[in-house]
Amino acid sequence: MEALMKSLCEAYGPSGEEKEIRALIENAVKDSVDRIYTDNLGNLLAVREGPEPALLLSAHMDEIGVIVTHIDENGFLRIAPVGGVAPHLLLGQRLRFKNGAVGTVYHEKLKELRDLDWSKLYLDLGAGSAAEAKNVAQIGDMACLHQPFDSLNGRYMAKALDDRVGCAILIETARRLAGAPLPQAICFLFSVQEEVGLRGATTAAYSIQPGYGLAVDVTRAGDTPKAPLMEVSLGKGPAIKVKDSSVICSPKVRRFMMEVASQHEIPYQLEVLERGGTDAGAIHLSRGGVPTGALSIPCRYIHTASEMVDAADIQNAVKLLEILCRTSWSEGVS
Ligand code: ZN
Ligand code: CO
Repeated sequence: MEALMKSLCEAYGPSGEEKEIRALIENAVKDSVDRIYTDNLGNLLAVREGPEPALLLSAHMDEIGVIVTHIDENGFLRIAPVGGVAPHLLLGQRLRFKNGAVGTVYHEKLKELRDLDWSKLYLDLGAGSAAEAKNVAQIGDMACLHQPFDSLNGRYMAKALDDRVGCAILIETARRLAGAPLPQAICFLFSVQEEVGLRGATTAAYSIQPGYGLAVDVTRAGDTPKAPLMEVSLGKGPAIKVKDSSVICSPKVRRFMMEVASQHEIPYQLEVLERGGTDAGAIHLSRGGVPTGALSIPCRYIHTASEMVDAADIQNAVKLLEILCRTSWSEGVS
């Protein structure tokens, strides 16, 4: 699974530019499902047939990034965020375009560092002129962070763990379920454009008409020096979401998840995320409403070049998800 995570995290895929990451995921999951297709917005849907209504499992493929807004006569680029990117976290970071071109971000002269905003940032591609820069990047091109995946002491550090870790968990779950009879159809959704407003999950949930939904994504951890209060730590198990700013999870689904985890002695934490959302926010509002929960991987430094997660939390998430898929939701969620 580590090799899979490495290839997913290092792939290019800002919101709306998911082609490369989608191809990787399609290759990794296609042999484990009955049917796989890409919809109009670019969502990848991998389906295990079974009794309806289906259980929809969602993880987003896209990652945060930047978009080119201006190229000046000296070949420096101005950029704007794609998703929730803080400008100060980009200083000295390398960014990579789809064509492989790489540059670094720095700021104009500032009176004080707190004056830093997007208008003061530029991207340097090493170009000597506008023409040279335009050979490499155009207005509207997107770049993602450029950082290798590292395996630490039982922890992983990479860009885009939000939400490639969720994608890896869905893929591994599909592999473990391959060939097994299931009590319900399962749709593994690898969604697009989550970071700009849960857009892919919105249309996918509408067309799938699932009976139940479950998003797998990262959540904040509060276990770093003087961190803002957050009752979630790395290594204490995946988190069963209670609420974030996009969803109040179905109490029935949450209880079902907690019961299954307890029965199988899988450690878990409860998550209340005060700011931030996930695909569950879109899924539960689809059509007449879908009972929806979320399983979160505790993650430090979300939306930076070096997000960090715990390997045991990932293993426990896969374990729990596999059992949840093998259990009838129409009987369990009541
Ligand atoms: Zn996410
Ligand atoms: Co995110």
